[in-house]
Amino acid sequence: MQTWDELLNTCQQCRACPLGSTRTNLVFGTGNQNADLMFVGEAPGEQEDKTGIPFVGRAGQLLDKYLYAADIPRESVYIANILKCRPPRNRDPEESEKDACIGYLREQLRLVQPKIIVCLGRISAARLIRPDFKITLEHGQFFKKGNYLLTAVYHPSALLREVGTQKREEMLADMYKIKAELDALSE
Ligand code: URA
Repeated sequence: MQTWDELLNTCQQCRACPLGSTRTNLVFGTGNQNADLMFVGEAPGEQEDKTGIPFVGRAGQLLDKYLYAADIPRESVYIANILKCRPPRNRDPEESEKDACIGYLREQLRLVQPKIIVCLGRISAARLIRPDFKITLEHGQFFKKGNYLLTAVYHPSALLREVGTQKREEMLADMYKIKAELDALSE
């Protein structure tokens, strides 16, 4: 098992898929390296590629609002993505790119050892929970896998256009549930 520094260095050198050469910055992951709660998104967008930090663009700002509403300080959690490099024009990640990158996320999980993993959106849930995961039907449900409790919520970027809708209500309810589960596990 690698240390954080070794893993970061490996990711910085990585050219296992073409995105390693087209990115501006590696978006490794950020937050509390001993977090009980870890969020996993899909892939960096434009702002993330510019800054090297996950979830700092519009979707990230919406995520921050939900974290605040659920009383989960952003600095208390760890946030990463399935892909560490931005796909050009934010296209969906290719299977080969996810295959090339997923090992780095698994190393991050081993290092953080969160109690709960929250998949942000279908692509993350399909990879970490079940390939045929149905986000509209199964968001907010908890699944036990090894030492982890996994759940998925809507991807914040899918909620950007959903102002005052049922999906936004569901997202808020899911975030409250996650906070309650986290508190129960920490007792
Ligand atoms: N969308 C993601 O899935 N991840 C980010 O870091 C930003 C937007």
